[in-house]
Amino acid sequence: MRSSLRVIPSLAVGQQMADSLLEQARRRFENDRYVALRSLIDDDLAAMLYGHIQRRVEAGNIPQSQSHGMDASLEDFADSLMEHVLKGVQPRVEELCGLKLYPTYSFFRLYRTGSTLRHHRDRPSCEISVSVNLGPKLETPWPLWVSGPQGAKAVELAPGDALLYRGVECEHWRDRFEGEELAQVFLHYVDQDGPYRDYKFDQRPALGMGPHTRGALTEEPGAPKPAPRVSEPEISGTE
Ligand SMILES: [Fe+2]
Repeated sequence: MRSSLRVIPSLAVGQQMADSLLEQARRRFENDRYVALRSLIDDDLAAMLYGHIQRRVEAGNIPQSQSHGMDASLEDFADSLMEHVLKGVQPRVEELCGLKLYPTYSFFRLYRTGSTLRHHRDRPSCEISVSVNLGPKLETPWPLWVSGPQGAKAVELAPGDALLYRGVECEHWRDRFEGEELAQVFLHYVDQDGPYRDYKFDQRPALGMGPHTRGALTEEPGAPKPAPRVSEPEISGTE
């Protein structure tokens, strides 16, 4: 009797491919300390978040950039919606880096013509960082440079794509932006079992709270004190 070909259900093929891509991303992250991720969030969510930033620009309530000398940019720390995204994306980031994480903070930036990002590494709250492109789609890509133990690489991201990187370890930067505008959201986490675990919520009492609440944890009698703050070269911003 002729044996029939074993048909693998398409769902299983999809799962196999997803597992293989996940394994590939994990290995790359472990080896290079960063990995580019295609479509970390879907196009609709990216467009919605970009629209949210645009509405805030129209309302005139986004602070001018105070970090990294990017005079042309607008940015904000812990926007309510972005904090929600920080929490929502966390399980996927944990899967990709193979760690249990605490969220620290979210931060968005709207780059505009003439923006640059100087060479830097991030502060302890950015141990595991994700920079997500929210759009718009650029005619000329504007690469994010990142440097790890295997060398430097220019990473081009489309809306929904992201760079997962170890922000404290990997230097990163951008050259001058010649386009009109580009929105990015930065989602930051620390390893629950790592050296920066005391930076949970960026040392705020909870997600969604402003930077002025850092270190204002309610002290219970006998409770361990929060870790001392290390000096931070920048106020809040990172990419
Ligand atoms: Fe950064």
